[in-house]
Amino acid sequence: MNNNLLKGKKGIIFGALDEKSIAWITALRCHEEGAMIVLSNASVAIRMGEIEKLAEKISAPVIPCDVSKAEEVENLIIKSMEYFGGGFDFVLHSIGMSMNVRKGRHYTELDYDYNSKTLDISSISLHRVLASCMKHDAINEWGSVVALSYIAAQRIFPDYNEMADAKSLLESVARSFGYHYGVKKKVRVNTISQSPTKTTAGTGVKGFDGFISFAEKMSPLGNASAADCANYIVMMFSDLTKMVTMQNLFHDGGFSYTGVSQSVIEQMEK
Ligand SMILES: NC(=O)c1ccc[n+]([C@@H]2O[C@H](COP(=O)([O-])OP(=O)(O)OC[C@H]3O[C@@H](n4cnc5c(N)ncnc54)[C@H](O)[C@@H]3O)[C@@H](O)[C@H]2O)c1
Repeated sequence: MNNNLLKGKKGIIFGALDEKSIAWITALRCHEEGAMIVLSNASVAIRMGEIEKLAEKISAPVIPCDVSKAEEVENLIIKSMEYFGGGFDFVLHSIGMSMNVRKGRHYTELDYDYNSKTLDISSISLHRVLASCMKHDAINEWGSVVALSYIAAQRIFPDYNEMADAKSLLESVARSFGYHYGVKKKVRVNTISQSPTKTTAGTGVKGFDGFISFAEKMSPLGNASAADCANYIVMMFSDLTKMVTMQNLFHDGGFSYTGVSQSVIEQMEK
């Protein structure tokens, strides 16, 4: 499917680790729609993952960047502008990492050093990227920035652990920076709150299989796939959504507004 929705547009996509990554599938869709792309991930993920395969497919450079390091973010923005020959039009922040989840620590017994690292990588990094873009006047007028979130930012999902707080903070940064970037340069900033999706980050959540089938049963349209998410992101990067900013947009087949579904009631009656 190619509607040339992103013809002439340029952007940075963070977070493609392997072909299951939402960022990977989105990069392919953006390329299909005519965009020119710079791929980025942390050096360790570039070594361990398969991003070079994707880079070859879409003829994109891969510029390493650990988003918790200001100098690496600066370097990425400057190098991307050199590659594009000026400013660019979109950024996808598809990054999440929880140190406490990795180390198997319960939410009530968080290690606070790990916790700061989690919030820094998963949430404050959006601020760091936007601040660097603003400093270098890197994003063109009417540009679009999307970060990926999850409904645990609003409602409790016990095993989502500290990532719930990270997503609340991420959504808040999108709103706050969205205000300032909107006033300064008409750049829009939004989060997309995606259904549970089988990726490396997704399956890191304890009890993920139960979690994903519960969401499937609770959503009138079923769970949104990574491919559906990629389509939504393409629309958010296109000029068709120019007046949408500072929003958290649910992309979850209706899960967020469903109290209970017939399918879950029937399951409970068994
Ligand atoms: N999979 C789901 O169920 C789901 C649901 C809603 C939202 N999300 C969000 O979608 C986004 C993408 O995750 P995914 O599911 O595609 O999994 P993924 O594991 O493929 O992607 C996560 C990416 O974050 C990158 N990353 C981690 N630390 C980094 C750092 N310091 N610097 C730069 N990059 C770093 C990883 O290398 C990886 O590429 C995340 O924000 C995640 O929380 C996922």
